[in-house]
Amino acid sequence: MCGIFGIVTDKEQTLGPILIEAARRLTYRGYDSVGAATLNGKKIDLRKDTGRVDEVAVKYNFAEMTGSRGIAQLRWATFGEPSQVNAQPHLDSDGDLVGAHNGNVVNNFELRQQFIAEGLTIRSQNDGETCVHAVERYINKGYEFLDAIRLAYGDLQGDYAFVIGKVSDDKLYAIKKGSGLVVGLGEGFTCLSSDLPSILPLTRKIIRIQDGEIITLWADRIELRSVKDGKIIQRAPEMVTESMDAVQKGGYPHFMLKEIHEQSQVAREVLHMLAGSAELQGVLEKMRTARNLFFIGCGTSYHACLAGAVYFAQIAGRTVIPVLAPQFLPQYILTVNHEDVGLFVSQSGETKDVLTALQAAEARGMTAFGLANVIGSTLTKATSFTLPLCCGYEISVPATKTFTNQVVTFLYLAYRLAGRDTSELEQIPDLMDKTLEMVASQVAVVASEIDKWNDMYCLGYGATYPIAQEGALKLKEITYAHCEGMLSTEFKHGPLSAVTDGFPILFVAPPDNVSLIVSGINEVTCRGGIAIAIGEEDARLRANASELIVLPKSTPQISALLAVLPLQMLSYHISVARGYDPDFPRNLSKTLTVD
Ligand code: AGP
Repeated sequence: MCGIFGIVTDKEQTLGPILIEAARRLTYRGYDSVGAATLNGKKIDLRKDTGRVDEVAVKYNFAEMTGSRGIAQLRWATFGEPSQVNAQPHLDSDGDLVGAHNGNVVNNFELRQQFIAEGLTIRSQNDGETCVHAVERYINKGYEFLDAIRLAYGDLQGDYAFVIGKVSDDKLYAIKKGSGLVVGLGEGFTCLSSDLPSILPLTRKIIRIQDGEIITLWADRIELRSVKDGKIIQRAPEMVTESMDAVQKGGYPHFMLKEIHEQSQVAREVLHMLAGSAELQGVLEKMRTARNLFFIGCGTSYHACLAGAVYFAQIAGRTVIPVLAPQFLPQYILTVNHEDVGLFVSQSGETKDVLTALQAAEARGMTAFGLANVIGSTLTKATSFTLPLCCGYEISVPATKTFTNQVVTFLYLAYRLAGRDTSELEQIPDLMDKTLEMVASQVAVVASEIDKWNDMYCLGYGATYPIAQEGALKLKEITYAHCEGMLSTEFKHGPLSAVTDGFPILFVAPPDNVSLIVSGINEVTCRGGIAIAIGEEDARLRANASELIVLPKSTPQISALLAVLPLQMLSYHISVARGYDPDFPRNLSKTLTVD
């Protein structure tokens, strides 16, 4: 997700320790590289590299950096591998400007081609550098600094926050589109950051910047303007009173809840990223022409592979073999060769089971692509190309936002493979927010009703079958109850015998197959079971289910994706009601690097 911090002070001084501390307080967002720049009116001192904040800061002696203005950045790689040159901040061609961003500039590739044609000096592949050159090109055309930034804002597509300073100046400027940007007002200084934790130790007096605004920071004042017309915007500062812990969790009691509520934002980001990916067409072509196409992962990532396989078949008519990574070896390894393609899916990019399968597949000549959240992880280095999940750091052990972005990516790939207009998918982020709003109170009630049970089933059909499996995994992971995810039609072939009075069964109803779900519901309710349906408003579900958790109207495939949100919330509520910490469930770890 990256993080930026900037400070403007009233005198030249040692800024290094402030920048290091600010960077440390942004580490919760996840990062692979660290950088700092100070400006003193005559020169820019820029130091950066890959690695942990404390290591890089010691190696490059950040502590001695002086100036009246400073910028720090933590980079979570998306455009360009983690490397010193791709680390931020970045300079313009002549070294007069320095800037850093967080987020993604999705037209990075096109802009860079333009800058090269305009004779600008490009040093990295990183889109943070693109932001700096986007300003530089207008300065070269004779525009004032502020106007150059306003014009650059129009050229930079995507979700980002960006800070920039000029050597011969006493100010910093920042803009934002989609990503967060907060300004702090202190005694003798002003500062800004992607998020509050790096500001609060310095000041609790803040101003939140909105999309389409440009902020200028002097040591003793700020000026907020509209990017569009340059007019001044008045906004009174607010005082932050929450504790640092509460702030880091975004005001939510747990990271899991915060991450559940981040899903719409990261879905928006991954859709932008996919739309701007220059490499995607080549990946799709390989997938289209592959003899066999495998989606390979473990746990939640495997459930996303299952959803992907359904989408590819339903939308693009392309058969996919979804497989649990450790099963890939005994079942398929001898059958694969250079004509086959594998997409290896992993949030962490470090899951040993996945890496073992990847190594074996590559040894057989298979083309291997990745879908991962942690860029720079072993998976991303070992595959020929990896699509980023754009989720930022997922702290909570139960995967939530990385799952939905995996599924969103599969949906996008299926649309592209089918030659379908992907604009239909742009409604997903808003639908996610609407879903959370619609289900909130009812899910809390259902959680309290089924909390006493330590055995449950979660059933789905078609596109909702993988979602039911993921819902069951979430329930198992953090409530410690047994919950089995199954195909709804399979229930009558055995598990039906477990149904007793009040036994809870969750039905995830696909809008295009409601009647089949209704027969399943009746099979359990007539034996005393409680059928909790999750689906779009439907008279048949309403009449037959004990409870209907309603999803907003969408397509059958999007509806399946939305259905995981109430399941995440349900498991969260039960976990908390049982007195467990959903972020750190017993016996589990976020990254499994063992066999
Ligand atoms: C998800 O909630 C779990 N923590 C777990 O199943 C996880 O998905 C699995 O271990 C795979 O991890 P990965 O995506 O990092 O490869």
